[in-house]
Amino acid sequence: MEEYLWWRDGVIYQIYPRSFMDSNGDGLGDLEGILSRLDYLAELGVDALWLSPIYPSPDADFGYDVADHTAIDPRFGTLADFDRLVAETHQRGMRLILDMVMNHTSDQHPWFRESRSGRENPKRDWYLWRDRPNNWEAVFGGRAWEYDPATRQYYYHMFLQEQPDINWHNPEVRKAQLDVFRFWLERGVDGFRLDVFNLYFKDADFRDNPPRFGLRSFDRQKHVYDCDRPEMLPLLQELRALLDAYPERFAVGETFISTPERAAAYVGDRALHAAFSFDFTALEVFFPWNPAWVRKQVERREAAFTGNRWPTTVLANHDLPRTASRYCRGEDDAQAKLAMALLLTLRGTPFLYYGEEIGMRNVPLRRKEILDPPGKRRWPFYKGRDGCRAPMQWDNSAYAGFSTVRPWLPIHADYPERNVATQSGDADSLLNFTRKLIALRKEMPALRSGEFIPLSSPPGTFVYRRQSFGQTVQVMLNFTRNPIQIPLDAGAELKNWTLLLSTGSWEGSPAWILKPHEIVVLSSTQQALPASANPQEKR
Ligand code: GLC
Repeated sequence: MEEYLWWRDGVIYQIYPRSFMDSNGDGLGDLEGILSRLDYLAELGVDALWLSPIYPSPDADFGYDVADHTAIDPRFGTLADFDRLVAETHQRGMRLILDMVMNHTSDQHPWFRESRSGRENPKRDWYLWRDRPNNWEAVFGGRAWEYDPATRQYYYHMFLQEQPDINWHNPEVRKAQLDVFRFWLERGVDGFRLDVFNLYFKDADFRDNPPRFGLRSFDRQKHVYDCDRPEMLPLLQELRALLDAYPERFAVGETFISTPERAAAYVGDRALHAAFSFDFTALEVFFPWNPAWVRKQVERREAAFTGNRWPTTVLANHDLPRTASRYCRGEDDAQAKLAMALLLTLRGTPFLYYGEEIGMRNVPLRRKEILDPPGKRRWPFYKGRDGCRAPMQWDNSAYAGFSTVRPWLPIHADYPERNVATQSGDADSLLNFTRKLIALRKEMPALRSGEFIPLSSPPGTFVYRRQSFGQTVQVMLNFTRNPIQIPLDAGAELKNWTLLLSTGSWEGSPAWILKPHEIVVLSSTQQALPASANPQEKR
């Protein structure tokens, strides 16, 4: 039997702590709240939890502006609570991953306060200071260089002006940052999600970025000097050596301006374990949803993540509109189930964002309710990221069982029907579908680590196999409202199959008809044709 690698074979669940569970009635989620829901997560079957930042922060960017990397924000709890969270997560057979924001700090971080206090300060060079700005732009809008009148220089920030970028070229910075990783590793943390890691290094000569065609000023330049610098790979090697000094630790990078090729270049035995390529969500405004497009993305990333480079699947996170808001009409969850099936059956580690398992929708907000800075700045063209960060819908009691008071963001109006308690009691719910599929993944090695083999199938459907160790799993998805017949060459020749799961009432032979929106998962001990024997499938 092959080895079970938690970060490759398991499902990683992302918690946005301020919205998961409030234990002390202040309207904000906290560590104690997460502790009280660990049994739910264990029962869901996920292998690891990734916590969005829980460090002290003035919240200019809701925790992604860190003021102290080795402490817990008192609103979330204490280090003792955190230690308990690690222990109790482990007790339930799950792992815990922290979000490391190491490209920038808060402007309230002691390092930056010192750095800004004077040109002669020993920490001056810990950030990027210049007499004159170059042409680099900030991704949240506006200029990337902020003038500091007291010391008459500009400092650089890729995100908000409250998030100055760190100078990773400075050896003291490098050491201090690696010490932060060590601090958490020693506390028993199993891994890290590295926020925008490929931005860490900027061109040492601050050369101007060349122009390109684009809509926003940020997009009107090629990000060659402020992103993906060659110094990154040696640093990753050093970080990997640090991680490898502890058993079974893991790091996944959030690739800024991602493509599969770019992300894959950072993955390997002497680099990151994984890097997000955001195959289905990289386009910020336009998310096509048809099987032909989805298949194209999968094939592109399959070509990039070869050998022991392992891909990740992300359909939602705290920066993106919720999956159901993108693909579902009204309260119908058929498309959300298809998306969940993809997430859990493609080759790659699934990252499941909290609330996706019950099909939470983005909460609609009025302009004055918007808290997210880029949303405030770019309204109405872009409404920010608050919509996908609303409180978890646990039950139909007041405040959805999330809190006893009005939460920091409004709760979606659909919570009386759409919540964990209601869906738990409904055999056909998205929640129970998700549980079944996660359990199936655990049972079937082919679904976890098997090769991915796409088959040709009629428009509106996506049919593929996962194959390993004499086990073939076939996944058949009908994205449309019509019944569609699966022809012989799309797998109907598969003998001795066993039905593992169906959302319709699939009967198989002789007709092989997929009902509207039906999802079918079959297994067979018959070895499917190797991909190479099926030339039209190789693109
Ligand atoms: C990453 C985070 C995002 C944050 C940004 C700046 O993209 O996912 O939420 O705003 O980095 O830290």
